[in-house]
Formats: sequence, structure tokens, C-alpha cells
Amino acid sequence: MAIKRGTTSKKNTQSLKKTTPSSSNPQQPSTKVESSPKNQQRLVDPTTKDSDDGNAQNIRPHRLQDYIGQETLKSVLKIGIKAALDRKDPLDHLLLYGPPGLGKTTMSLILAEEMGVNCKITAAPALERPRDITGILVNLKPGDVLFIDEIHRLNRLTEELLYPAMEDYRLDITIGKGQASRTRSIPLPKFTLVGATTKVGSLTSPLRDRFGLIERLRFYEPEELALIIERTAKILDVAITQPGAMEIARRSRGTPRIANRLLRRVRDYQVVHKHENINEEVAAQSLDFYQSNPNPLDWTDRMILETMIHNFNGGPVGLESVAASTGEDAKTIEDVYEPYLLQIGFLHRTHRGRMVTEMARKHLLKTDYF
Ligand code: ADE
Repeated sequence: MAIKRGTTSKKNTQSLKKTTPSSSNPQQPSTKVESSPKNQQRLVDPTTKDSDDGNAQNIRPHRLQDYIGQETLKSVLKIGIKAALDRKDPLDHLLLYGPPGLGKTTMSLILAEEMGVNCKITAAPALERPRDITGILVNLKPGDVLFIDEIHRLNRLTEELLYPAMEDYRLDITIGKGQASRTRSIPLPKFTLVGATTKVGSLTSPLRDRFGLIERLRFYEPEELALIIERTAKILDVAITQPGAMEIARRSRGTPRIANRLLRRVRDYQVVHKHENINEEVAAQSLDFYQSNPNPLDWTDRMILETMIHNFNGGPVGLESVAASTGEDAKTIEDVYEPYLLQIGFLHRTHRGRMVTEMARKHLLKTDYF
């Protein structure tokens, strides 16, 4: 069965390898890289998708049984898939939300594979004009999965075209302008929309209400990340010990995308330094070299928390003020740093703004960063 990973020739659909190149070429590892906070920041940026490795597709799990972690989500989906296959119907529309890098696209591809259908991948910013979405919808085959990333960014017209498409598998298009305009309904094949978002609260209720399943992806435990790292290492033919994998896992901020990226960097280091395998010591040395801290906080996390304490007495403070005083982009703070800081209990969100928690203050004092 063919899994169609986007149609690269079209502007509004994208292949899986759609984003920025990563920081170094694994074929030419360099020992001269100076690690700066910015380098380090990029290594742990979950929004940057890696395209430096031809194995990017291979290391994604293709079936639910190979997908490590997210146990609650997997059990909900297993039931949904079985019921849909028994009924010979497509899966309910599914909204996946959670921080970047946790596997929303991967899960969508797995669903298509489990259902035996194609998966078409696009993102809301690529659906600018009504004809972008109509072009995709009319080309779907029965049962197909349509994955829309960043679905909270859909414009109103596109979103309104999706309502009847999701509900009644119907496309309502308006032909002509003004008084002479007419609406025509075109039947669509039954399909499954998988929407992905980092901001479930930004979806309009009519759109949110049209999803039969709304599921959250959570940060991964270090033990789960270690298993993912060991699995990826096997695919990349890299020798790694369990403690070596754990060392990388501890510095991966609960995010498989970061874990797999760190593994590639550690592999470069291992090759250049001619170590037999990646054990705990090699992993630690190498990640220290890249300044990927074993501490739960990286350089930018600390800078954000410290600025909030020094300039705003720990909060409550608005996102824009934090952005202005740290020099970081507000969206990056909100999408990249904040979810993790909230998860580990270092930041708290109130209706009056963000607050640094007591736990974060104690940790910063203990680790002597102020
Ligand atoms: N690679 C990236 N995410 C993964 C996961 N959840 N399970 C297995 N391999 C992965």
C-alpha cells in the first residue's frame, strides 16, 4: 500500500522534509564547531525539523506497534482503527494537540498505514486561497487521511469550506460574483481529517466541534526516549549502550525530535574520536562539547526565568513583556520554551500573566545560575 507523503510538485502540499537544514553535515563531522548558546539552542529546538539525514523517513515508526510512548493516545486510536475497519468506514476526524516534536505527523502517517490508505500532508499556511484546499479535497481517494499541520492558522474562508467537507463530505463552492453568484455542492469521498496544533485553545469552536476525537500528545519520559534512541541507533547502525541512550534521553526535553537530533551529533563525535560505541561517558562528553546540559534547563530557559525574576519579580508578567526584555521572539517563547517549563512545573500561567514558580527559584539558586 502506498503512503503518499505529500505532493512535492504542488505549492500547497509539502513533503516530509519540508523545513530548515540542520546545523551540520553528518558526512563531514567537524571537531572545530564552537558551541554557543545559540548552537545549543538550535540543538534543543523542537520546532526545527531535521533534514540532514537520508534516514529521516526510515527512523519514523510506520506501525502503532513500533511507536514508543503515548500509551493513552495509542489505546484510543487502536479502538478507533479497529471499529472503523470493522465498519469499513474511515476513522473519525482527529485533532492532535501538544508541543512540537512529539510525533503528530508520524502518528498521522501511522494511522493511514494502519487503515491501508494514503496520507496527504499539508499545513495551514500553505492553504491561503480557497482553491488550495478545494484542490486537495477533490483529489482525495475514499478513506484517505488528510493531515493539516498548524490547523489553528487556517483562514476563515478555508475553514468554512472545511465544515461541510468534514461533516457531510461535501464541498460547497460559490460560482460567480454578486447577485449572479450560485452555490454548487460537490460530493467528496469519505475521508479523515487529522488536524495538528500546538495551540488547541486558538481553534474556533465550530472547527473544534467537528473533530470526533481530540487527543493530546505528552512529553516523553526519559525511559521512553531512551528506547526511541536505541531504536533509531539500530536503524542508523550506531552502537550504543542503554546508559548511553539514557544520557542522551535526559538532555532531550521529553521530545523525540530532539533525542534523535542529539543522537546524530553524538554519533559524529563518536566517529571522529574513534570510540567503539556510545556509552554513558562518550554521550556525556559529547553532549558537554555541544553544551547540551544535563540540567533540566538549557541556556535560554534559564535566561527567560532569570529575566522574569530580575525584571518582573517573578511575575505575573505578559508574554510580550517577557519577549521584549529577553530579546526572544514571543511566538518562540510560547511554542518552544513555555510548554516545557510549564510541564516541569517551573512556570505557571495565570489570567494576569506568566509566573516563575517557587520550584524554579529553588532550582536556579541551587544550580547557582544567578
Ligand atoms: N521516533 C520518533 N518518535 C518515535 C516514537 N514515538 N517511537 C518510536 N520511534 C520514534
